[in-house]
Amino acid sequence: MKDARGLDVTTDDATAVAAADDFAARLLRLDQGVEAILDAAKRWPDTPIVQLYAATFWLYGQTDGALETAAVHLRACDALAMNTRERALHRALALWHGNDNLRAVEAMEAITTEWPSDLLTAKIAEFLYYVLGQQYMGPRFRAHMRRLEGAHAEDPDFLAMTAFASELCSDYAAAEAVAERALAIEPRNPWAQHALSHVLIRQGRVAEGLARLESFLPLLATCGRPIHCHDAWHLALLHLEQLDVAAAMRVFRTHIWGITPDFVVEQLDAIALLWRIEMAAGPMDAQWPSIAEHIATRAIETFMPFMNSHYVYALARAGRADVVEAALAGVRARSAADDEEAKRVWAPVGRAVIEGAAAFGAGDRARAAALLDPVMPMMTSIGGSDAQDDLFRQTYLRSLQAAGRHVEAAAYFDAITAAKSRTPLDRALAN
Ligand SMILES: [Fe+2]
Repeated sequence: MKDARGLDVTTDDATAVAAADDFAARLLRLDQGVEAILDAAKRWPDTPIVQLYAATFWLYGQTDGALETAAVHLRACDALAMNTRERALHRALALWHGNDNLRAVEAMEAITTEWPSDLLTAKIAEFLYYVLGQQYMGPRFRAHMRRLEGAHAEDPDFLAMTAFASELCSDYAAAEAVAERALAIEPRNPWAQHALSHVLIRQGRVAEGLARLESFLPLLATCGRPIHCHDAWHLALLHLEQLDVAAAMRVFRTHIWGITPDFVVEQLDAIALLWRIEMAAGPMDAQWPSIAEHIATRAIETFMPFMNSHYVYALARAGRADVVEAALAGVRARSAADDEEAKRVWAPVGRAVIEGAAAFGAGDRARAAALLDPVMPMMTSIGGSDAQDDLFRQTYLRSLQAAGRHVEAAAYFDAITAAKSRTPLDRALAN
């Protein structure tokens, strides 16, 4: 049979195809209800595309437990007859499962080269670029999107991805125009809203950004939890640009932390916001214990250095030195491994960024500066987007200042604020 995009799928059951199509549409829109694929996987254990999509659902979870469940669905496919595209997707997902992220994204790029209408695989590749460092991978992400333009020029979900790829390449004008076009075609488009919010914050367009992002909130609350949380995080960051900590914390309490506190995205956004508030306005001591409680068991897991950097800072701030040490031991072991990802990012960059984050969280900022000095030029390869990686730029700035390296700090501040209108936050961070 064929799916909604005209791609061959190995099944003769139209309701199974409809379930797979429903998952693809919801994931592309970042809408609620993607978990329906789990019931579908029980109902159609012998339908490869349904099993592959269930594995995809779990791979997004980025915890060891989620990975174990993803593996069950990938193994289920081993015994099934699959067509060429399903086999290629199975291989790509298995590479992602094995943390072989670069090979995984290559496999996904090969799929969309052969089957340009497979927009879901392009969407999954977008997440792999995030894992590999989304700004670092920006040109590659953008080239991938450009290659698919002919097939999807009017698709609002594709346009949202394209807008974000342009933003990551600092082409703000193109990003803004395409995001607005996507929203004009389909207002229910949290990913286009997200691309737009990146443009507004990176350019320091704070008042405009606050108005737009506030207006997005009611719709966001009806979308998938990860994007609701993350777009709200961008709104909180705009409040912080005005040093309005009270407003940022209102967003934190209402839309970011404590709704699904075991979701990785919620943990990362909560930690990043509090960390930034601490660098701009002072300690947020009362917030850390509840976060530490939810991340302590997974801080030893190693998916990408971006995640561990957040974990060790939060744990250090919560006074959980024992867990920080265990997490750092896990990171050192991951960095010493012999696989491609260890050599690409963990050993040369990730380990130092994570150790720097732990030192910074423990108050040893001069040590944080020394750890970060050699790795900042490659920092964007640890994972995360451009806006998310600003966290580490601010951390490095604060480390240089605290270490008394004022000339270097001033030069670094000028470099990282060059593309935006300076805000009250920038003026606070300048000293
Ligand atoms: Fe973002």
